Amino acid sequence: MERINSGIKGLEKLVGGGIPRGHSTLICGTPGTGKTIFGLQFLYMGAKKFNENGLYVSIEEHPRKLRKYGAEFGWKDIEALEKAGKLQFLHVAPTDKKFDIVDKVREQVTRMNAKRLVVDSLSSIYMAFEDITQFVYSFVGVLEELGVTSIFITDSPSAGGGDQLTKDGVSEFVCDGVIQLQLNDVSKTVSRTLSIKKMRGTEITPGQNILKISKAGLEIEEYKAFY
Ligand SMILES: Nc1ncnc2c1ncn2[C@@H]1O[C@H](COP(=O)(O)OP(=O)(O)O)[C@@H](O)[C@H]1O
Ligand SMILES: [Mg+2]
Repeated sequence: MERINSGIKGLEKLVGGGIPRGHSTLICGTPGTGKTIFGLQFLYMGAKKFNENGLYVSIEEHPRKLRKYGAEFGWKDIEALEKAGKLQFLHVAPTDKKFDIVDKVREQVTRMNAKRLVVDSLSSIYMAFEDITQFVYSFVGVLEELGVTSIFITDSPSAGGGDQLTKDGVSEFVCDGVIQLQLNDVSKTVSRTLSIKKMRGTEITPGQNILKISKAGLEIEEYKAFY
């Protein structure tokens, strides 16, 4: 199985050398856990270091904000990568007609020969839909057909939601992989963790790993899994 480098330092060691090419991975977490940074870094590093074009489908944030956000981590040439056709943003309104979104994404992926894709977020698109299950299946299915390695960001229900990873309860079964980001903000020490919950075709390292957000973006600290 061919695996790709996510560009998230420390992640490859947890997933048998990389996320399998063409697979769909769900990144879930409550607000502020680092999901958007994960998505941006995945595409930026893909375009910059691994010569893989990437498409960022954003519902929540305007591309202008994402470019600025990236610059904070030293990714200052996002616009140059856009001009070169290696990185593109597709801003869609959550009110856009449902299957128009799938069509738009399909068209753009094909046009720019995207190898990586981020949807930020799946949970903000499907809120407008009546049949969430059907939408999730068809959206994930279309992207798998196109052969892109996709990251679907989704909001987890906030504290009190128990162990539930997603609000829809479906996408964790549909996607090939599930990565959970958590923010433990008890007392004055804030600690972030990343856990691999599922990755088809892969022997994973279980447990919560310490996740750091530094000037260079996300980094998994020495992949010290604790159980
Ligand atoms: N430059 C930075 N340095 C350190 N931490 C940062 C920086 N920028 C953002 N963060 C942290 O990352 C969090 C947001 O990450 P983000 O990926 O936007 O979250 P999500 O998309 O999961 O809501 C912020 O709440 C902040 O704590
Ligand atoms: Mg976000």
